[in-house]
This record gives sequence, C-alpha cells and structure tokens, in this order.
Amino acid sequence: MIGSNLQSKANNGAAHASQPLRFESELSLKRLMPRLDAVWDASGADESLRTEFNLRLEEYWYALFEILHELYGSRYDFFYHLEQILTTAATAWINRPESLREVDRHRINEPDWFASEKVVGGALYVDLFSENLGRLRETIGYFKELGLTYLHLMPLFAVRPGDNDGGYAISNYRSVDPRLGTIDDLKLLADELRAAGITLVLDFVFNHTSDDHQWAKLAQSGDREFQQYYYIFPDREVPDQYEQTLREIFPTVRRGNFTWHDGMQQWVWTTFNSFQWDLNYGNPAVFRAMLEEMFFIADTGVDMLRLDAVAFIWKRMGTSCENLPEAHRMIQAYNLLARIATPGLLFKSEAIVHPDDVVKYVSPEECQISYNPTLMALLWESLATRQTRLLTRSLSHRHKLPDGTAWVNYLRCHDDIGWTFDDADAAAIGINAFDHRKFLNDFYTGQFEGSFARGVPFQENVETGDMRIAGTLASLAGLELGIEHDSEEEKELGIRRMLLLQSITLSIGGIPLIYLGEEWGMLNDYEFVKDPAKAGDTRWVHRPKMQWEFLDELDDNIESGSGSIRTRIYRSLQRMIAVRKSQPAFAGQAMKLISTGNPHIVVFARMNAGHHVIVAANFSEEIQTIDGNYLRTAGLGRFFEDVLTDRTYGTSDALQLDPYQYVWLRRV
Ligand code: GLC
Ligand code: GLC
Repeated sequence: MIGSNLQSKANNGAAHASQPLRFESELSLKRLMPRLDAVWDASGADESLRTEFNLRLEEYWYALFEILHELYGSRYDFFYHLEQILTTAATAWINRPESLREVDRHRINEPDWFASEKVVGGALYVDLFSENLGRLRETIGYFKELGLTYLHLMPLFAVRPGDNDGGYAISNYRSVDPRLGTIDDLKLLADELRAAGITLVLDFVFNHTSDDHQWAKLAQSGDREFQQYYYIFPDREVPDQYEQTLREIFPTVRRGNFTWHDGMQQWVWTTFNSFQWDLNYGNPAVFRAMLEEMFFIADTGVDMLRLDAVAFIWKRMGTSCENLPEAHRMIQAYNLLARIATPGLLFKSEAIVHPDDVVKYVSPEECQISYNPTLMALLWESLATRQTRLLTRSLSHRHKLPDGTAWVNYLRCHDDIGWTFDDADAAAIGINAFDHRKFLNDFYTGQFEGSFARGVPFQENVETGDMRIAGTLASLAGLELGIEHDSEEEKELGIRRMLLLQSITLSIGGIPLIYLGEEWGMLNDYEFVKDPAKAGDTRWVHRPKMQWEFLDELDDNIESGSGSIRTRIYRSLQRMIAVRKSQPAFAGQAMKLISTGNPHIVVFARMNAGHHVIVAANFSEEIQTIDGNYLRTAGLGRFFEDVLTDRTYGTSDALQLDPYQYVWLRRV
C-alpha cells in the first residue's frame, strides 16, 4: 500500500521540482521497498505488522532521509547503508516481542506518560545492590515500597577484564556480564518490572567501545574495514592538530585525548579512559552497526535508553568536538529509527556540559528526557553558600523545556559533581565564576573553614585548576562529619540538608531520580582503594555496596544511635515520594518562581490542570520568614496546609521556616 502511494507521488514530479531532496527521498524509498518486502516475506510476519511499520515509515522517512543524506550523502556507499539501515529497522520490529509491541501501541497514544507526578526513578549498580540480576528480581518489592516506578541499571553488559569504568567499557552489547547473569535473566527482570509498573532504563554506551570489543580486536589485527570504525592515526600529526581545541576529560588518567597502542603501533582517540576507544560516526557503517546494537538492547525490554556521553559523539577538526550540530542530527536519526521500529522507546540525554548546550539535546525529536546537571550543581551551591540567588537566577530562565519533554532531577549519580553553571548567570549577580568554583571545590573537599562536607577531589587538573567532586549525598551534606564528631546537632543538620535537597528534586518539575543508597544516607566508602581496578577513580567513593541489614533497622524502635538516623532518612524520603505522587500539581513542568526578597530561601509554585502547590525551602541554618502576603497573592488564599505534615497555616501571619525546613503548601 505504501509502495503504490509513493509511486503516484513520485510520478507527480512537477510538484516536487522545488523540493529536490524530497523527491530523491521518495524515489529512494520506492527503490528500497522491494528489499523490505523480501525481509517481510522471509520472516512470514503477518500483514498487520507490516502495515503498522509502513505507516510509521511513511510518516518519518523524509526526516530520516534528510539527516542521513546530510551526514553521509557524500559517501560513495550511502545507498548501500541506507538499505541496511532500513532492513535493520524492519527486522527489529519483526523480532520485537509482542508484549513490547503492545507497550509501543500504548505509548504512541500517550507520548508524554513520563511527565506524570507518579513517575519516580532510582539508579543502581546490580553487583553492588543485589549481586546479580536474579537477586535483583527478588528486590522488586523493595522498589515498590520506596515508591519507585523507573529503574536505571548501570551498565551490565560484558566488559573487559580489570578496570572497566563501572561497566562503561563494553566488549559485547549482546551479552550480560556473566557475573551478573544472562540476557535471559535481563529479559525476565524487564518483564517482572513491567508487571510491577516499573520501567527499565539502560545505558546506550555508543560513544566508545572497550578496547577488547570485537570491532577493536579486528582493528588491532590490521583489518582496515574495522580500523575505520575508530579514530586511528599512524603518528602525532593529526592528533596534535585536534588537541589544539580539545578539553581533557580524565586528565589524571592520561594527558590529552589519544592513546598509543603498542600492538598496532598507532594512536587511538580515547576521550575517557585509554581502554575506551571512541567510535567514528563519520563512517555510516558505525552508525548502522550501533543501530543494530541499540535495537538488540531495546528488545530485551528497555523503556528508555540513557545516551551516554552524547556530547562527544561527533568530531570535527578545529572544534572542541563537543556538542557539534552533527551530534544532534545523529541522535535525531536514531530517534526517528526508534519511532519507526521500537516506538515505545525513549531517549535520555547524558550531556553534563554548559547549560546552553544541555538543553539543545532535549526535544521530542531528540532526547525526550535529560539529566538536569545545572539544577544539581546549583542545589549544592546553595547548600554551601546558604544563598539561593544563583539557583533562582538560573531557574528563572533555564528551567522551561519544550513540550513533551522532562528534566531528570537528581542530587547524586554514579558520576562526579561538576560546577557547570553559566558564568554569565553568576556575573549577573556579582559572582566571579572562576573564584566561586574554587570556593565550591574547597568547600566540598572540606578544606574551607567551617565546611560540613566530606567530598573527595575527582580529576583535578593542575594546569587549569579544574576539579570535580566525588562523595555521597550524606557525606557531602554533613552527616559523615556529624557522625565523626559524634555531634547530635551536626547529624541533625546533615539529615535536614539531605531531605531539603530531596524536597526540591521531588517537586520542581520532571522525573526525580534517586541514586540508591541515598534513601539510607549511605556514607562515603573509602575501601575502593583496595581494589586495583577501582583505586585510580575516586568516583568509587560514592558507589557503596547496599547493606541489607538496614532493612531490619526499619522495625527497630530504638530512638538513638545510627539505626534511628537511617530509619528516619528512609521513612522521610518514602513519605515525600508518596506525597509527591498524591499531588497532580507536580505533573508536567510548569513552574513559577515567587520572589520574596529573602536570599536564603527558594519559593516556587507548581500548577497543573487546576491544581496548585507552593514549595518553599530554607537553605540556611537560621530561621527565615516569608510575609504571608507573598503567599496569599501567590494563590494560597487565607488558609493553607503543608501536605507533607498536614499542618495548617493562615496567610495573616508570616510563615516561619526552621533551619533547612521545606514545605509543600496547598490552599484549604
Ligand atoms: C559517562 C558516564 C561515566 C563514564 C563516561 C564514559 O559520562 O556517566 O560514568 O565514565 O560516560 O563512558
Ligand atoms: C562525562 C561528563 C563529565 C563527567 C564524566 C565522567 O564526560 O560530561 O562531567 O565527569 O562523564 O565522570
């Protein structure tokens, strides 16, 4: 049906005279349809599956063709790859389990399902949390108790021996690390999570492979076809030219971005660790090969792919090789292919870059959701300074995203904290960004006088003075120091700071994402240095092993000791999650800052479908007050309640916020 339709369009050449590319795209599709028919015929797939696919193909084909033509049209083998890409997509749809096709059909009709207030995420390393995938299935009840509906499992595919960058050096995308289980275990887990109402998020680590991936091994053996999968150079000439404009991401691992390979006697582009080889997406064979891996991962039952290191996937001489327009076009092409072949699948952007660049990845046509690194960094900034000016300045013009997308709001993840706020935002309120970053690094490594934080430097670059911070939520917020000083007061403040930060990520608009361990206030784990595969990477300090004994403490009534601290953190977070889910005002992303003139607090309104909640949070250890007039005019009327504590208030009085207190207010 699509064939004849296209034929009549293609014959109508005059109408296309002004749009030559559109004409070429339709002609190409017409030529490719018989190849596609062969795929369908060979698979014996029934007519209705074919029709569904073809309708989507017809809808998205031109957009896809346009991008692929732009990226690869000048290649002599363009048409060959176009055919491969198309048959790969059809094969993915045919092979997709029917249960996932059901999910696809629902999501086509409800594309922004993730904007619901009911969506709350968690992230974990399988080995550190539950040893393996089999045991992880047994912990689904735990996720439900906490209130999670979205689970990001850190990379669990086969990795190289020794250091594997926490799973980000993948040697085979089609097999699970045998220590964790098998692909069948993964599929079973995905099924059970889905039955429990929990969506599964996995990484798509597509910027690089491990140096022992099959493609890299073939390259090492001298196979020229596979050497073109990577950036490999015989001498320093070209690498040195690139280096002129590149940043260094892991300067303590190795200077520069290239690694000498003894076997090949050549230089290899390695943005991250020396064993992570950057893929050459200038080569359409790489685009197509990774597409196959993407579909394979999707078909295990994944709802969202976290696009790892998106900023780096396209390189061009003379640029920073980050956030290039071609990188966006490429992700858009992958997104179109997902719309065609695995339409329930969504993309999450991992671009931990300048805020102006972060948002460029976020659109229904590219990545529907994205980490919010600016909010993350500025919440920590506010905690250190007890001032919310930079936070509100940034939120005032950076929070809004396009319709049909959402932020993923988090405090800690498996990576470091980098101070990626905008220098101009800082300058606008009289802050010198360079000095301020230095202050924040001093503060969070505990060197600043009076600091409550116990962070560890990550990737300190002596030349540029650049540094990032590692540490768990609890250790950075002061709990570790409080325990060390055995000070009830410091412990109390530490707990309050942790919950204060959670109260913002759970309410500000978007998907809150908890790094598991936060719910217990897990402290830094300094033991990682004993493992040679981890010792060189301080991020392991905030990747502690889950201690299931904590669960026993939940039923423990003892009111003192660290047991009750843990219980309190867990119960408070659990309750905050439950309350979030009960407030329709928290769906979507509409957020309005309310200015009160008090630099220590942040106040904002959330509204959705006639529902209205005002969030207020005090970032200082001093009592702060908000004039009732601000709250009344912001929509709270004369009487209102804090939905977290059920306490009621009147706007005739000033609202008093205790040290680090947060409230979620609703008119009564
Ligand atoms: C991403 C990951 C990080 C990893 C890097 C290289 O930034 O989050 O953990 O080191 O990519 O894969
Ligand atoms: C990515 C992020 C960077 C992070 C690194 C891993 O490159 O952009 O901020 O530090 O991965 O640590």
